[in-house]
Amino acid sequence: MKLILLGAPGAGKGTQAAVISERYHIPQISTGNIIRAALKSGTAMGKMAKSFIEEGKLVPDDVVIGIIKDRLEEDDCKDGFILDGFPRTIPQAEALDKMGIEIDKVIDIEVSDDVIIDRMSGRRVCEKCGRPYHLVSLRPKVEGVCDDCAGALIQRKDDHPLTVKARLKIYHKETEPLKYYYKSQGKLYEIQGANSVEETTRLTFEALEA
Ligand code: AP5
Repeated sequence: MKLILLGAPGAGKGTQAAVISERYHIPQISTGNIIRAALKSGTAMGKMAKSFIEEGKLVPDDVVIGIIKDRLEEDDCKDGFILDGFPRTIPQAEALDKMGIEIDKVIDIEVSDDVIIDRMSGRRVCEKCGRPYHLVSLRPKVEGVCDDCAGALIQRKDDHPLTVKARLKIYHKETEPLKYYYKSQGKLYEIQGANSVEETTRLTFEALEA
C-alpha cells in the first residue's frame, strides 16, 4: 500500500497514520516530524526551516521534495508507506509523480476550521517520537508521558491559535487544490474527521479496504 493522508493542520493525519502503520506494517513518513527532528538536532536543513515552521509557513518545495526522495529510497519503504504531510503543494505532487511512484489511495480527512482551532489548543506531542495526544480526546496512560517511548509531552510552538489560523489559510490556498488533483486520478477517498478518533479510524479503514 502506497498511501497519502491529506487534510488541514490538525485534521488527524498523524493520529490515523500511526494506526495504519501499525496495522499494515508500513512506515509512517511525516515531513513535519522529519523537519522538527532536524531543527532539534541543529542540522543545516533544520536551521533553514526554523522560521518557516514556527510561523506556520510552508518550507520551500525543493527542500521537502529532497527529504521525501531520500526517505522513499530507504529499504523499509519497498512494500509501501504512508505519507503524512506530503505532498502539500501541486509542485510537490508533480515531483512525486516524476519519481515514478504509483500511489494507491489518497485519504482526505475533512474537518472544519472551527473544530481545528478548538482541537489544536489541546494537542500535546511527544518531544522524542512526535506521537500526538490530546488533553481531552486522546490522553496518554500516564499524564504527560508518551505511551510508546516515555518521552515528555509538550505543546508545539506552531499550535498557538494565531499560527493555526495562518496555517489554515495556507492550507486552503496551497494544499486543498490537491484534492482535485487526486480526484481527477480516481484516487481520492474523502472521510469525515470531526467525530471521535475511533470513528475516524473506522472510516479510514472502510476507505482503505473499499
Ligand atoms: P506537520 O507536522 O505536518 O503539521 P500539519 O499538517 O499542519 O498537521 P498537524 O501535525 O498539525 O496535524 P495532524 O493532521 O497530523 O493532526 P493530529 O493527528 O496531530 O507540519 C508542520 C510544519 O512543517 C508545516 O507548517 C510546515 O512548516 C512544515 N512542513 C511539513 N510538511 C511540509 C511540506 N510537505 N511542505 C512544506 N512544508 C512542510 O491531530 C491533532 C490533534 O487532534 C491531536 O491532539 C489529536 O490527538 C487530536 N485528534 C485527532 N483526531 C481527532 C478526532 N477525530 N477527534 C478529536 N481529537 C482528535
